[in-house]
Amino acid sequence: MRRITDPRDFGRVAVALGGTSSEREVSLNSGANVLEALRARGIDAQPVDGIPALIEAAQARRIDRVFNVLHGHRGGGEDGVLQGALEALGVPYTGSGVLASALSMDKIRSKQVWIALGLPTPRYVRHRPGDDVRLAVNELGLPVVVKPANEGSSVGISRVFGEADLPAAVALAARYDGELLIEQLVVGGEYTVGILGDEALPSIRIVPAGEYYDYHAKYVSDDTQYLCPGLAGAAEAEIRALALAAFRTLGCSGWGRVDVMRDREGRNFLLEVNTAPGMTSHSLVPKAARAVGIDFETLCWRVLESSFRGEGA
Ligand SMILES: Nc1ncnc2c1ncn2[C@@H]1O[C@H](COP(=O)(O)OP(=O)(O)O)[C@@H](O)[C@H]1O
Ligand SMILES: [Mg+2]
Repeated sequence: MRRITDPRDFGRVAVALGGTSSEREVSLNSGANVLEALRARGIDAQPVDGIPALIEAAQARRIDRVFNVLHGHRGGGEDGVLQGALEALGVPYTGSGVLASALSMDKIRSKQVWIALGLPTPRYVRHRPGDDVRLAVNELGLPVVVKPANEGSSVGISRVFGEADLPAAVALAARYDGELLIEQLVVGGEYTVGILGDEALPSIRIVPAGEYYDYHAKYVSDDTQYLCPGLAGAAEAEIRALALAAFRTLGCSGWGRVDVMRDREGRNFLLEVNTAPGMTSHSLVPKAARAVGIDFETLCWRVLESSFRGEGA
């Protein structure tokens, strides 16, 4: 990866934030933090809200590169659409390219790739409108997790312990567009592994005060505990290696975050990859970076350096 020492070498940087996905508020928060950090390091950075405004700025040659913290799909900037537009206009950007962004946004297709390559992920059934949910339960057993295939921030997700609760869980997930999946619930610990460049950062074990890591626990609550590194010795090395393999098999690059569940026997199961992870004060990649001595400003600088990929890097 190309290392930059002079902030002017980044040129005029647009911090892509906001957008129209369900994660707009989180993205505005992430973007404000990134903007402040880049400016503190002398980088010429400005906020740009949403993909249409970004395309306009790129076409008018007002920007030289993009730091993408738009989260989610449908105008979120994490699903390959923004990446394709910027490729077409020849403007470099942080994070994964078109294919990896689109693939990572789709939890079903991410799992299909992992399964094909022998990487562990919870068993699941794809659910289409009109499908009989009992068939899914027959195949997977209870408990299960019902989730929309393309959302983030735990929206639309339910844990189901009794068959009677399934229809409501499916109805909730179906409020979001795209497909649904019903997945075996992994009982155990929740972990996440940040990726920066070619390396996995230390894992974080997430211990929510409530039942699981829902929207409230992610962005509001101060009771959630984060332990970093989340594991020790061989187990820590194993989860980092798995996260990096999961990231690479989807073709991801630059930076990201891989969510993993670990059952009581110590087996890891991949949940998803986030290609434009949160950068709020509660966010996890900044916490993991800090554990290895990379402060928030340096993290933003390093992520921005990853935009030089393919530019004689
Ligand atoms: N198979 C599963 N077993 C146990 N918990 C799960 C499972 N899938 C999701 N969860 C819980 O739901 C949260 C959100 O799920 P995830 O697949 O990471 O979607 P997103 O973060 O995009 O909303 C996880 O952080 C975890 O707490
Ligand atoms: Mg997640």
